[in-house]
Amino acid sequence: MRREILVYPDPFLARKAVPVGAVDDRIRTLIRDMFETMYASEGIGLAAPQVGVGKRVVVLDVSPVDETIAPVAVVNPEIVLRNGSVTGVEGCLSVPGVQGEVCRAETVEVRGMDEQGNPLRIRAAGILSRALQHEIDHLEGILFIDRLSSSAAASAK
Ligand code: NI
Repeated sequence: MRREILVYPDPFLARKAVPVGAVDDRIRTLIRDMFETMYASEGIGLAAPQVGVGKRVVVLDVSPVDETIAPVAVVNPEIVLRNGSVTGVEGCLSVPGVQGEVCRAETVEVRGMDEQGNPLRIRAAGILSRALQHEIDHLEGILFIDRLSSSAAASAK
């Protein structure tokens, strides 16, 4: 079922999400709905707070940018390693019509659980690295517009 995407400045987007205790059918339904919602809006990533659920769940499918990367859902994602830094353009389904340059770690290692509750480890570079950092920010109540370089922020506001 497609869910409504909250749009900035909805205060829910600024709230910190809580960890998922057990990956049960309710979480799996949430993940399925998040993929459906993301695809319907032609996004490459979505975090649960964007559909009004304050839980630490993200889904990503960056295949429109890099077709070699499969879709993935991560429950309780945590960045355990970061290396380098790189600036790139981002947008967000919750901030329609705005794009801006954001500096992110070049590569990350993320740990969490998959939709079966099994441990998951992702080593990411390129668009997947950027998208993971963007989505995990949502779980902390941080939007990409909070991280724009000062000149870009000035032109976005
Ligand atoms: Ni976003």
